[in-house]
Amino acid sequence: MSTATASLPTQLADGLPLRVVPNANPRPAAEREAILADPGFGQQFTDHMVIVRWSADRGWHDATLQAYQPFSLDPAAAVLHYAQEIFEGLKAYQRSDGTIASFRPEANAERFVTSARRLAMPELPPEAFVAACDALVLADRAWIPTGGEMSLYLRPFMIATEPFLGVRPSKEYVFCVIASPAAGYFGGTVKGVSVYASEDYVRAVPGGTGEAKCGGNYAASLLAQAQAADEGCDQVVWLDGVERKYVEEMGGMNLFFVYGADPDAVEIVTPDLSGSLLPGITRRSLIEAAGDLGIAASERRISLEQWRADVASGAITETFACGTAAVITPVYTCKARTGDFEVGSEPGPVTMRLREHLLGVQHGTIEDTHHWIHTIG
Ligand code: PLP
Ligand code: COI
Repeated sequence: MSTATASLPTQLADGLPLRVVPNANPRPAAEREAILADPGFGQQFTDHMVIVRWSADRGWHDATLQAYQPFSLDPAAAVLHYAQEIFEGLKAYQRSDGTIASFRPEANAERFVTSARRLAMPELPPEAFVAACDALVLADRAWIPTGGEMSLYLRPFMIATEPFLGVRPSKEYVFCVIASPAAGYFGGTVKGVSVYASEDYVRAVPGGTGEAKCGGNYAASLLAQAQAADEGCDQVVWLDGVERKYVEEMGGMNLFFVYGADPDAVEIVTPDLSGSLLPGITRRSLIEAAGDLGIAASERRISLEQWRADVASGAITETFACGTAAVITPVYTCKARTGDFEVGSEPGPVTMRLREHLLGVQHGTIEDTHHWIHTIG
């Protein structure tokens, strides 16, 4: 463990003490440094994890920071059969002033509560969610890569562990946080992506689980993602599940369209929260930050047809995707059965301005006027 045990929180919330059992065999420093030099995304994991258990009779209990290790699960555990699972994704940064911090963890904690409700799971108090993330970051601070867009990606999640084959909410759960040193999701450089609008499959419908961050949504997306890859595209773009007309979001990102050729008088437009798309924290942050940069921001529906027509007429000048893992990534090409179109061929000025602004706030080179930065140590 790379920090004094004493600096770790002693509890995650009132009545939820944190037991600390340091990893007796952490990775050797040289091995860790080699990983940090080129971490990729989501392939390497740090020395520790945090686990908290929940049962119907005891509530949240047994919070432990311990060595990263496989779970032992009963083959009848509910998650393995009915996918009662939710997760989050957020990042911690080694900032330019030497502190370590995460970006809007309270927003992830709130979304985790909303997701838990939708999946009939117990709600983890946001305070405990944030404290669990903080404890792991402090324990594994030596794993935060530095430079460029590097960060420590945190993956909190909750699974239903009760061994029972009937279909009803589980009476036992495990909440866990793991951490993975990360470079850019699409390889670290600002490279535009190609997207495939799925006209065969839908991700979510109003009243379904599209607003929740649950594993089942991603399982249901994989075939369309594979179809996108077969078409030579990086990502799938989902259309609304009812009319199959309106652009909703991408496989793991929200979308923005930039209207206006004059960079000093532009509007960024993102699909409104229809009830079936994920309310991204990056999306919300960009809407809030746009005002500071003199950029108008709106949330409204836009159809695939309109996207295509507005690109053709020059009304839409840039399109970009945003999310925790992907930060802000330009979209260059959209393929669809109803006709392919080129959206751009280089990162647009508005995309880059927003991208540099967001990364600057996250890494500490731009003032955090909205109080988004959560200092950990
Ligand atoms: N949409 C989907 C389907 C996602 O998986 C993500 C990633 O978390 C996002 C949007 C962007 O959300 P956020 O900005 O909170 O990471
Ligand atoms: C994220 O941006 O955190 C995501 O969850 C996207 C993807 C890795 C699932």
